[in-house]
This record gives sequence, structure tokens and C-alpha cells, in this order.
Amino acid sequence: MGKPLDTPLIDALNNFISAGRIPMHMPGHKQGKGFDARFKDNLLEFDLTELPGLDNFHRPEGAISESMDITAKVFGARKSFFLVNGSTSGIHAAFLSCFKRGDEVLVNRNCHISVIHALMLFGIKPVFVMPEYDEEYNLALPSRLVSWKRALDEHPDVKGALVTTPDYYGICQPLAELAGLLHANGKILIVDEAHGAHFAFSGKFPETALEQGADICIQSFHKTLNALTQAAVLHVGSERVNVEKLRRAISMITTTSPSYIIMASMEYARKVAVEEGAGRYDELINHLEKMKTRLSGMENLRVVPDVIGKLKRDPTRIVIDTSLTNITGYELYDMLYNEYRIAAEMCDYCHVVFIATIADTPDDLYKVTHALLKIDRSLGKTRKKSFDFPFKTGKCSIPELYDFLDSSVKVGLTDAEGMTSAELVTPYPPGIPVLCPGEVITRDHIKYLDRLIRSGAEINGLSTDEKGQRTIRVVKTYSKEEGGFQ
Ligand SMILES: Cc1ncc(COP(=O)(O)O)c(C=O)c1O
Repeated sequence: MGKPLDTPLIDALNNFISAGRIPMHMPGHKQGKGFDARFKDNLLEFDLTELPGLDNFHRPEGAISESMDITAKVFGARKSFFLVNGSTSGIHAAFLSCFKRGDEVLVNRNCHISVIHALMLFGIKPVFVMPEYDEEYNLALPSRLVSWKRALDEHPDVKGALVTTPDYYGICQPLAELAGLLHANGKILIVDEAHGAHFAFSGKFPETALEQGADICIQSFHKTLNALTQAAVLHVGSERVNVEKLRRAISMITTTSPSYIIMASMEYARKVAVEEGAGRYDELINHLEKMKTRLSGMENLRVVPDVIGKLKRDPTRIVIDTSLTNITGYELYDMLYNEYRIAAEMCDYCHVVFIATIADTPDDLYKVTHALLKIDRSLGKTRKKSFDFPFKTGKCSIPELYDFLDSSVKVGLTDAEGMTSAELVTPYPPGIPVLCPGEVITRDHIKYLDRLIRSGAEINGLSTDEKGQRTIRVVKTYSKEEGGFQ
């Protein structure tokens, strides 16, 4: 008998699930708890392809088309498209269909990497609008309306804006006035609402992007609803969007073997949210309110409030702040994971983020509360950690796609002055990219990043070489005249 094939991934998954941790992360169905037995039992048999009666994702005329129409009605959209490769594919399709190579678009600088990739793939130029910063909780806040206005005044030829709301921490950018401003100037508003698919199902949530005038919004159903990973929907909100062009764009960037189980899970999530949402979201919000009240008694850790200034925050996104304590968010995450078998969604230098959905049980929320109270009692206080963000402009020239793909090399961060970044370099907090691909690296950037590294911050977009030194990928441009990559 030959040697049995190793199965490291299946082993890792089995190990993970056998630990039985409380899943305070996506996907929103919480390891199947959100699915009823009938749906769960059929899931593998639902893994089919374009067979008679099952319609065709790329030419929907039957069940898929009908299901998307019901989805549009529920969300108040003119048209909804299923996506089987996450919000990422919706963002790409929106950019591909709404803009042309060389167009300029307003983009909030703390956008998701999928937006930066869309800019690069389709040769669209960003006019970055910088976020604000909340010093109390060390969180990036949405760009103010005046910042969008100023950017529009300075770049009257932009074709539209990409706005991210809510962000990972649940903080919402108010959209109604911004939508009015953009529309009055003939511009289109695309909203990355990846974290807000549940907003449509309770009056206790912030307004949806469609309610506030978005022309297109993209939602990851898998993040907050009972849907499988990669399930997402793109909604069209207005007649400003060329729906046929958008349909072609989605088709171009989607596999020819779209997953029926992902699509079925979107339908399932929508049905549960419509039929049971009002009651179950009320229940969830009540449980979370009790949880927050109990946690407000913590001496050291803090719960980030549901309103920051005048900005609304998603009440189901529980964010714990460690900035007054002697531990980092990373340490709190590890304590919860290792000592209390609680897996949070993510952490940064001074926050831990939990995603709560209707698939969570009151018992699980109780255990999370209990763990946080217990950890809090074991902590000491420290001087408040704070992070200033020194860069105001965010000017950037997104590199040519093939310069980016072909010629990026890693250099030591301290040697990178004057070179062009090929990375989105984002320390959390503040979650505002210090460098975007295409941005020229200055001494100030290096000094700022160095200070954060020394203070223990984790920085997305930097690597560490064998000598333990931080490195950054940089773009080298191709020049025929000068004989190759420079
Ligand atoms: C703000 C934001 N937009 C878009 C995405 C991409 O979503 P998906 O993973 O569904 O492609 C993410 C993923 O985390 C995100 O946080």
C-alpha cells in the first residue's frame, strides 16, 4: 500500500472545529447554526451546475432571475445581481461598468484593498479623500462632507465616488447629502456596503445606502447574514446605472461555474431575514444592549459606543478598546482565543472586533460578556495609547497594471525613500493607509512607520526579512529607452 496522501487543510479545519470555539466572526451563519436542518442536509446535493430547470447565472431567465428580482424588491433596488466571489467582484464589476480607463473617481482613502485593485485593473485614477480621526477611541472616522465637497471642487471632472460604509468597526458615513451633491453634479455614487447587508431588516439599524441615494451598493451577505462565504449582492439604486453594461461586466469577471450552494444560501439568508428578521433582530439588539450595559462596568477595557460624535455605528458590531489598559488588542484577542475559546473577527493594536448575527445564541453572547469581564478584572491601567496621523493629502498615482505585477521588488523600509510603493501599507489603528500603491515613499512615511513598529503596531503591507528587518514591495517601472526595469 502506498503512503496515504496528507490532508493538511482538512486536518487544520477538523482541529479548528473540534476545539468548539464560540464563532464571533464571519461567516454570519456561524458554522451552520443559522441554517435549518432541511437546508443544511441538502447543501451538498444542491452543489449542481446549469442543468434543466436550474437557470444560468450568465443568462438568468428562470429561478436565478426570479430570486434576484425578489431580492431587489426586498432591498428596494431597481435590480439586484447575485455575486459568487464576494463583494470584491461587485466592486470590480461596478468600476468596470461605470468608468473608463483614465477616468478620475473620488475614493475614501481608507477603502478596502479590492477598491485599490479595481483602480489598478481598470486604469482608473483615484482622488483620495482623507478620513477623520477619533482620538478618544483611536478610530478612523468617515471623511466629512466638506472634504468630499473640496475634492469635488478641485476635481470637477471626476466621474463619481466610491464610499465605504459601514467600515470594519461598524462606523457609518452619512450619505444622503453626499449623494445629493454628487447627483447635482452629474456624478455616480457607488457604496461599498460589504459590512451592512443586514441594515435593511430592522429600523434599529442605520439607514441603508440605497435609502440614502446610492446608485450602486455592494453587500457581502456572508459577513452578516446566514449565507455561505463569498455570497454577495450588488444592488442598483437608480436609472443613472447602465444595467445591461453592468450585467456584462459581472459576467466577464465571474467563473463559468458559479456555485449553486452559494446562490441558494443568499436566497436562504434573504428569506430568513424577511420572514423572521424584525423579531430576531429586536431580540439580538436586546441581548447586545444587555451585554453592553454589563460591559460598561469594566474598569479598564471599554466598549466603543454605538454613536461616535454624530456618527452612527452598527449596534451588532461589538468593538472593545484596550487603549487604557496594559495589553494590546492582539493580546486580548489571544487571551480570548486561547483561554476562553472565543474566536473574535479581528484585532488591531488597541481593539478587538466581534461580529454578532441572528445565528448567535444568547448563551454564546453571555460567555463572551463573562470572559471580557473576567479579563478586565485581571488587567492594569496604563497611559492612553494614542496615534497621530501626519499625512493630510494622500496624493497618489496608481501604477500601471503591468509595472505593478511584473516589477515589484522588496527593499528594506529604511532604504525605500524616493521609491514608489507597490503596497497598501496600513497600520491598525488608525486603519488609514500610510502608503497606497503608486505613492512615493518619503522620509516622513518611513519615520512614522518606524515609530509605529517600535511601539508594537502590526502593519498590513510590510514584511519582515530573514534578518528581522521590515521590508516593503516597491514598483519598478519599465523603460525601453533606459533598457529595462528601473
Ligand atoms: C470594507 C470591505 N469592502 C469589501 C470587502 C470585500 O468583501 P468580500 O470578502 O466579500 O469580497 C471587504 C472584506 O473584508 C471589506 O471589509
